[in-house]
Amino acid sequence: MKTYHLHGTHNLKWWQTAVFYQIYPRSFQDSNGDGIGDLQGIINRLDYLVDLGINAIWISPIFPSPMADFGYDVADYCDIHPMFGDLATFDRLLDEAHARNLKIILDFVPNHSSNQHPWFLESRTSRDNPKRDWYIWRDAKPDGSPPNNWISMFGGPAWTWDAPTGQYYLHSFLPEQPDLNWRNPDVVNAMHNALRFWLQRGVDGFRVDAILCLIKHESFQDNPPVTPGSYWERWGHQFEPRYTVEQPEMFEHVRLMRRVFDEFEERVHIGETGTVDVAGLIPYYGRPLDGYDIPFNFKLLHANWHAATVRQIVEAYYDILPAGGWPNFVFGNHDIHRFATRYGYQNHRSVAMLLLTLWGIPTLYYGDELGLEDVFIPLAQRVDPWGIKMPEGDFGRDPERTPMQWDSSPNAGFTSGQPWLPVANDYAQRNVASQLADAHSTLNFYKTLIQLRRSRPALHNGAFTFVDGLGDDLLAYRREADGQRLLVCLNFGDQTRTIDLSHLTSRAATLLSTHFTQQSGTTFMLQPHESILLQLG
Ligand code: NOJ
Ligand code: CA
Repeated sequence: MKTYHLHGTHNLKWWQTAVFYQIYPRSFQDSNGDGIGDLQGIINRLDYLVDLGINAIWISPIFPSPMADFGYDVADYCDIHPMFGDLATFDRLLDEAHARNLKIILDFVPNHSSNQHPWFLESRTSRDNPKRDWYIWRDAKPDGSPPNNWISMFGGPAWTWDAPTGQYYLHSFLPEQPDLNWRNPDVVNAMHNALRFWLQRGVDGFRVDAILCLIKHESFQDNPPVTPGSYWERWGHQFEPRYTVEQPEMFEHVRLMRRVFDEFEERVHIGETGTVDVAGLIPYYGRPLDGYDIPFNFKLLHANWHAATVRQIVEAYYDILPAGGWPNFVFGNHDIHRFATRYGYQNHRSVAMLLLTLWGIPTLYYGDELGLEDVFIPLAQRVDPWGIKMPEGDFGRDPERTPMQWDSSPNAGFTSGQPWLPVANDYAQRNVASQLADAHSTLNFYKTLIQLRRSRPALHNGAFTFVDGLGDDLLAYRREADGQRLLVCLNFGDQTRTIDLSHLTSRAATLLSTHFTQQSGTTFMLQPHESILLQLG
């Protein structure tokens, strides 16, 4: 039995013990009836977030943008989109959040701007414009085709022809998202200053978007075809992005951005890191720890819901964490179908139990605390620019971005207007108000679990030990600190299981169960898909 003793558990930084909560701002709360969520809406719901018990809010991009990729195409890094509010509203949000001990994390999109950003508008005016080199321009091949075989993460060529100046520009995502040239020091300076603009205003940190694409290989050579069965093939890519992702200079830029964060106190640096396996996360921590505080770990997000698979991923991660590095886990975000759908509704509370009792920072996605499932959006109503390119059977990212379900009033209390994406059909039953009134709801399950995590050092801060041999389809671990011993056991299967804990305790008692069962003693029964958190005597 291997125990993971947490390194340096004294003087923990605020983010090491925090529960993060992602808000997709278009979908959280509309305050002015235009059908799109906004900053005033978030302010109006801060007390809900306090009651839920989370500590930090990460808000997807709220900057001026033509919204080709719903804000991940930024047209001004230092302002707020009028659709969401203005700088004064933002400052109020910061004040109101800080007054409630909530941190505010923004989203930084460094790899690309919008094609409507003044920098790009200038860059495309002529080949000798001073901003030309702020983006990545290349000549066509002699036959007029793109300079190489690089493809966009959203499919199709990563190059778009610009007739007026007769060159192609590079975009790792949509043509409306031209890649900035991070080999140009003026770009680096301008982007670092954009970070400072918000950090000086009091923002508590950033989640940095699509960092893996930031630097491309100088040779601009073709990417090789994918190896059958490889990670990239499973992602639907034809070519392995050998010359387009995770170049060594990219890690250098992670470190340089980190230095900007370090000019301020207590800010958190989070990276959207998409890597093949958990080992790939390690370089993002830096050497030593001068990279991301939280390199997002998506490995459970893409795993199958099996006890052995989850265990293998968690163990592999803990085994290789650098000294002082702190783990984190993500189960949902605005780019992936909701886990209540992916893993089956019967498992959704167990996912929360796992996420909130593992050693590692949890990031929740709005609405998961209600057990929200994907909402089917017919092809004709799809708006996600990636999703609309997908065939009828694939749905893109709209299903996980539908409006938050607050109450049973029209449009779930999200808007008095026409919501930008349809509200789920079940909103009259599944909403915050109805779940607050039901002691055994998923929302009350989350509230209790978050409260337990916050109040018991064993859960946010305690040594971690897997417990072997309790039975098939079960995953169990102990968390221990300050003489307090807790045990978590998850039943992944559809059979009832009985576990015997007499070798671990003379008497244990339930603190929380996904099924709200209460048991005590040394043997415990787990119903199919039930997970329990026990206090060991
Ligand atoms: C990752 C973001 O999470 C996703 O929503 C976006 O489309 C791409 N990066 C491009 O910015
Ligand atoms: Ca609005």
